[in-house]
Amino acid sequence: MSIVTLNVNGTTHEVDVDPSTPLLYVLRNDLGLKGPRFGCGLGQCGTCTVLIDGVAMRSCVMRTSQARGEITTLEGLSKNGNLDPLQQAWIDEQVPQCGFCHNGQLLNARALLDRNPDPSDAEIREAMDGTLCRCMTYYRIQAAIKRAARSTMAAAQGSPTESTEAQVKGAAE
Ligand code: FES
Ligand code: FES
Repeated sequence: MSIVTLNVNGTTHEVDVDPSTPLLYVLRNDLGLKGPRFGCGLGQCGTCTVLIDGVAMRSCVMRTSQARGEITTLEGLSKNGNLDPLQQAWIDEQVPQCGFCHNGQLLNARALLDRNPDPSDAEIREAMDGTLCRCMTYYRIQAAIKRAARSTMAAAQGSPTESTEAQVKGAAE
């Protein structure tokens, strides 16, 4: 056992663990962050994904001692009580079915939009390839990523987002 320092969602933690422990176990069991999930444990499904300095990484196959940099888990996606545009789009498009895979879907999508704010359908498919959904929600995931990209660009231009327009329309009816 030894002390490992982790920076997670803007907070520094010191944990006393075997440094070879998979990061996923430490996040869930020592820090109580249940966003990242155990699926395959082999780096093949993506449900354990976290961001490290903005890059999507599979925490089930990463030693805790390798986790240098700022770690973002699903719990860290919303900021100051505001949902990330992807989380809002996931709600608007009613994406999840059982929901098990969506930690990985959301974080992988966040990494995509951070490096490519307006991805094409083909670019989305390529970036999301390998983040598995046994409920086959792939078309809704693609629609939600497109929606989040549009809403982020609209917000940057000071235009109302689709969610805002829908709320205004609903209130008027
Ligand atoms: S649980 Fe990590 S990739 Fe499947
Ligand atoms: S929504 Fe069930 S595994 Fe993706």
